[in-house]
Amino acid sequence: MQAAVLTRYGAPENIEIMDIVPPTPKADEVLVKVYATPVTTADTMMRRAQPAISRLFLGFSRPRNNIMGTGFAGKVVAVGAEVEDFAVGDRVYGESGLGFAANAEYVCVPANGVIDWIPLAFSYADAATLCDGPLTSYHFLKTLANIQEGQKVLIIGASGSLGSAAVQLARTFGARVTGVCSTRNVALVRSLGAEEVIDYTRTDFTQMAATYDVIFDTISNSSYRKGKHLLTEEGVYMTPVLNFPVLADMLYTRFFSRKKARFDAAGLLPARQLRGYLEAISQLIIDGKLRVIIDKKYTLPEAAEAHSYVDTGRKRGNVVLMVA
Ligand SMILES: NC(=O)c1ccc[n+]([C@@H]2O[C@H](COP(=O)([O-])OP(=O)(O)OC[C@H]3O[C@@H](n4cnc5c(N)ncnc54)[C@H](OP(=O)(O)O)[C@@H]3O)[C@@H](O)[C@H]2O)c1
Repeated sequence: MQAAVLTRYGAPENIEIMDIVPPTPKADEVLVKVYATPVTTADTMMRRAQPAISRLFLGFSRPRNNIMGTGFAGKVVAVGAEVEDFAVGDRVYGESGLGFAANAEYVCVPANGVIDWIPLAFSYADAATLCDGPLTSYHFLKTLANIQEGQKVLIIGASGSLGSAAVQLARTFGARVTGVCSTRNVALVRSLGAEEVIDYTRTDFTQMAATYDVIFDTISNSSYRKGKHLLTEEGVYMTPVLNFPVLADMLYTRFFSRKKARFDAAGLLPARQLRGYLEAISQLIIDGKLRVIIDKKYTLPEAAEAHSYVDTGRKRGNVVLMVA
């Protein structure tokens, strides 16, 4: 089978399309023929081994699991002897996590991992993106922030994968949403449900007088310290991007402030919790309350090109490799 293999950490050119032996499912695994698999910003950070501490679990001098990608959508083509829930022919999507290997024609995943059936109306491309922006933003907004009806939420990076999902989810949870994006994305962010949109090329949101119950900085463009004057008395600043300042601010605000700073890694949560999120997200899509934004589609041999595009930091929503 063909697979996008990372030969060494660094530039997109280090990704090679190789012919390798397809994996064989273990007793508790399913083998999925991949139809669509995303290239996410997190994938590009893993390609660069950033932040450096990620080498502890990615592999110190070279990637331990060198087939790229974690998100997948496709069809089950074989099941291990102990698998009861899934059958050959099922349309499924999910996340291989630290197993990686999803940017390939076939991937093996545990049947009790982050995997679910694709609802009838969803395309493979849409389903492939659900474990990135929608899943992560759902965790941050629903579980970490516990957003309540009428709360005011500021979403920075509102046109990205996490941001485009976050605007819609926050709105669905009854919040009043303000999105921050550039001029070219103002109409998109408004169409996703933002009541107010701040164009960062014209206005510095940190200079504004408004206050928010939640600031979700999806791209870590700001920080708790830069934004805390915009938080209400018990407001929370959250970012999904791991960095030293947010860890220090988390520690400080835990003991010394009613305003809080939060980071979390959604991918490290128990599979059962993530599957619960996916069920809720699927229902929101079925109910027409959440839609997936896909910016560009590439083929598997164009994986390096897709990485270069995601590296620009300008993608709108999601980028997907169409495999089958
Ligand atoms: N912790 C977790 O569990 C977890 C899980 C998944 C992802 N992540 C991380 O989450 C982060 C976000 O990923 P993503 O895929 O959502 O990002 P992304 O899609 O790459 O973000 C790109 C978007 O950001 C916008 N943007 C760029 N500069 C901006 C600025 N100054 N202000 C506002 N918007 C700006 C761009 O719009 P313009 O072109 O208009 O500027 C573009 O639409 C990544 O670092 C990823 O690694 C964390």
